[in-house]
Amino acid sequence: MNTEKLRSFLKNRLPPEINRLILAAAELAASQEASLYLVGGLVRDCLLDKTPKDADLVITANAIRFGQDLLQGTSYKTTLHHRFGNLSADINGFKLDITTARSEVYPAPGKLPEVGAGDIKADLFRRDFKINAMAISLSQQNSGCLVDPYDGLTDLKQGKLSVLHPKSFQDDPSRIWRALRYSERLGFDISAETLALLKRDMQLIPLIGADRLRYEIECVLEEAKPENIFLKAEETGVLRYSLPGVKADGWLVGKFAEARKIYGTCIPRVIYYCLLSARLNKLQAENLVTGLNPGKYITGCLGDYRYLAENLPELEKTGLRPSHLYKILVKCRKEARQSFYIASDNPLVRQNISLFEEELSNIKPHLKGADLIALGFTPGPAIQTILRELLFLKLDGQLTSRADEIDYVKRRQADDQS
Ligand code: CTP
Repeated sequence: MNTEKLRSFLKNRLPPEINRLILAAAELAASQEASLYLVGGLVRDCLLDKTPKDADLVITANAIRFGQDLLQGTSYKTTLHHRFGNLSADINGFKLDITTARSEVYPAPGKLPEVGAGDIKADLFRRDFKINAMAISLSQQNSGCLVDPYDGLTDLKQGKLSVLHPKSFQDDPSRIWRALRYSERLGFDISAETLALLKRDMQLIPLIGADRLRYEIECVLEEAKPENIFLKAEETGVLRYSLPGVKADGWLVGKFAEARKIYGTCIPRVIYYCLLSARLNKLQAENLVTGLNPGKYITGCLGDYRYLAENLPELEKTGLRPSHLYKILVKCRKEARQSFYIASDNPLVRQNISLFEEELSNIKPHLKGADLIALGFTPGPAIQTILRELLFLKLDGQLTSRADEIDYVKRRQADDQS
């Protein structure tokens, strides 16, 4: 790749601040007589002329010190990983990673690697796929030069995804999900050898633990059509070893697509989580939470989803008292209700949830706590109880005006005093 082409890629495909930092990094590396490279996804995307999601640099020097020099005087949030000789910076939402060129040895399947010194060739060898194991030099003497010791370019041209060596998935079983994800995103075929290795090693996926598996699954959920990746996971058997009980089929494809119609591309990932859990039984749903450890909010939504599933016989009824419907649905987070709506194939359930969202949830009594106090009620928990009674009566159409509500509370006050 010539320097001109590289410069125009960096300018057109990266946020201006990242482009500026990469050019500054090249100058800084030259002044320190270190070799600096673009690596990984950025190189792949550069060769495919696609917009990268983040920027990875490798330097043959102490990357943490280098990154700190580069970012001196800026206020970007940085994270240091001393074990991996890595500095990660958040540049207005875009991730810039600078790493010391290194080699890696995996002590056991699923364990994090042990890091040793290495040159760019060794650094590229520790990577997942040939298409991600290329570098572009940013050094002044050979800027733009492609470093491709494992022939990633051929795979890229052939639309093929292959690992660098047969132990790749054993070293890091999370790469199995990465294979499915890149295959879908780039429209690449997983090579026959790599597919055979993937199937041989997929049983190791549970070894990576909940947090790393969740990271991979959430990367999948960020893709344009995650359902296609889950279909590949189903077809290969990967899903079974990752999310036991979850099924990827026509139903899931339809529901994911429907969810995106409602939410657009900014769909909250919790909706996908709920749809993945929709057809699980109680135990499987609990195992999904333990298996992914998805944090408090998503865990809460998944719990709400189960609660709705348990209340399905009620939600399927016609002519439910509005206050009764309200009591069932108000306890859940909105995303759980919304996912339940999407997952349901029963028009009555959908009608009931829509009634809640569009009408019932907006109804409030005319009277507020202050009005009740002005009417002589003592401040305290009783006020809350009366406001709820007013709400339920209003929902059921038994109180319509402010005057009705005042009448009701006065009668209630009189009853309490007698
Ligand atoms: N990598 C790897 N094995 C992993 C994770 C990452 O070998 N389990 C390497 C790959 O070379 C990858 C690079 O680290 O290209 C950066 O990782 P990441 O940012 O996750 O991937 P990208 O290739 O940048 O892809 P994306 O576009 O999804 O960000």
